[in-house]
Amino acid sequence: MNRWRAFFVSTIGSKIVMAVTGILLLLFVLGHLVGNLQIFLGRTALNDYAEGLRKLGPLLWVARIGLLAAFLLHIDAAVRLTLRSQAARPVPYAKTRHSATTYAARTMVVSGILVVLYVLYHLMHFTWGWVAPQAFALTETVDGAARHDVYGMVVAGFQQPLIAIVYVVAQAVLAMHLSHGASSLLQTLGVRGPLFENVKNYVGPAFALLVFVGYVSIPAAVLLGIVK
Ligand code: HEM
Repeated sequence: MNRWRAFFVSTIGSKIVMAVTGILLLLFVLGHLVGNLQIFLGRTALNDYAEGLRKLGPLLWVARIGLLAAFLLHIDAAVRLTLRSQAARPVPYAKTRHSATTYAARTMVVSGILVVLYVLYHLMHFTWGWVAPQAFALTETVDGAARHDVYGMVVAGFQQPLIAIVYVVAQAVLAMHLSHGASSLLQTLGVRGPLFENVKNYVGPAFALLVFVGYVSIPAAVLLGIVK
């Protein structure tokens, strides 16, 4: 095994891969939120934004491939670290100890799996158009030319209470994942010190709350008839 590969699969290497890919995924989640919040500026604003992304052409594909690579590397390192920590303790404790760290680690695995399932559902819904093909086919005419009506598609999706509820629950699970993830990546990257201990414990939850409120505001606004 060469030195890079050995580092990559080592425990510290895997933690660094998780932290770096975690930052990239956090940036995506923030950027995607800012983009989606344009729904509050109206149909034209959101559809202009979606069209702008599509017009990036090959650059969009570079970003998509980068995002997918970060996602897969994040999961790969998580699986390795989880299996390794289980293998380090083949005989379970006679009495299960629910310490804060094992609780957080268990929650990360479960919330991580649920986030993967949510992203797959979300892609089937809004990117591939399998969940609601009629809404996916909606178009808006601008200067005589038809374009994909992302605004109409999102509104039609969240006007169905069950779909809106699935999204709200998924955002809660994502918030749990981000809350611990954002704090622990700072720890991995070696940001330490007495002052920072407190900051670190609040950064993750504060970021997660911001993301949760931002994303949930969209299905909530549609359900309440504020965005229609
Ligand atoms: C209320 C919440 C959300 C809304 C309204 C929303 C909306 C959308 C829309 C409309 C698209 C398709 C864009 C297009 O084809 O032009 C999309 C794609 C996507 N969304 Fe979301 N999204 C939400 C939450 C999330 C979250 C929380 C994540 C990640 C954890 C996420 C990850 C993605 C990904 C990976 C894509 C595919 C991007 C691409 O193909 O370039 N979304 N979303």
